[in-house]
Amino acid sequence: MKGDLPSWAIVSEKRRAHIERVVALLDEWSQKMQLPAAEADAWIDAGWWHDALRDADETTLRTITGNVDLPTGMLHGLAAAERLVDEGENRRDVLEAVRWHTFGHADWDRAGRALYMADFLEPGRHFMQADRAFLASLVPEAFDAVFRQVVRMRIEWTVREGKALTVETVALWNSLR
Ligand SMILES: [Fe+2]
Repeated sequence: MKGDLPSWAIVSEKRRAHIERVVALLDEWSQKMQLPAAEADAWIDAGWWHDALRDADETTLRTITGNVDLPTGMLHGLAAAERLVDEGENRRDVLEAVRWHTFGHADWDRAGRALYMADFLEPGRHFMQADRAFLASLVPEAFDAVFRQVVRMRIEWTVREGKALTVETVALWNSLR
């Protein structure tokens, strides 16, 4: 499991443990699916970097993204992608996976879809543990079906909590129906 957090990461110890579990899941799936090395590296790098600014403060996140509208909790993926671009990262699948991992995106290739699933299915989260572990075990053989189910579950939660759906999230769901 190579890779690490970038030098500019702002993450708590708890967050680092979450990131490591996400990367472990992506690594396991990529091996079971026998991905080409470059694609496996993209998945794992996206895993390491997706939450690198998850614990940054609001001012930092709004300064990096220039966004004044979205809730602070939705900005860290956009901000991390900006930082990665500044550093010269140019793999589109990695950048798009990191950028949209909180929203979901209809134009994702497998890296974005895998990260979105791993973020939700990693074993450290305390809800629906048996169901999520089962779904995680199915990803290598039923990638698209599990992705659709995870999108559905995440949207159901968002609506139940009374939170807004972004246009990107709605477009993702409509692309899967
Ligand atoms: Fe995450």
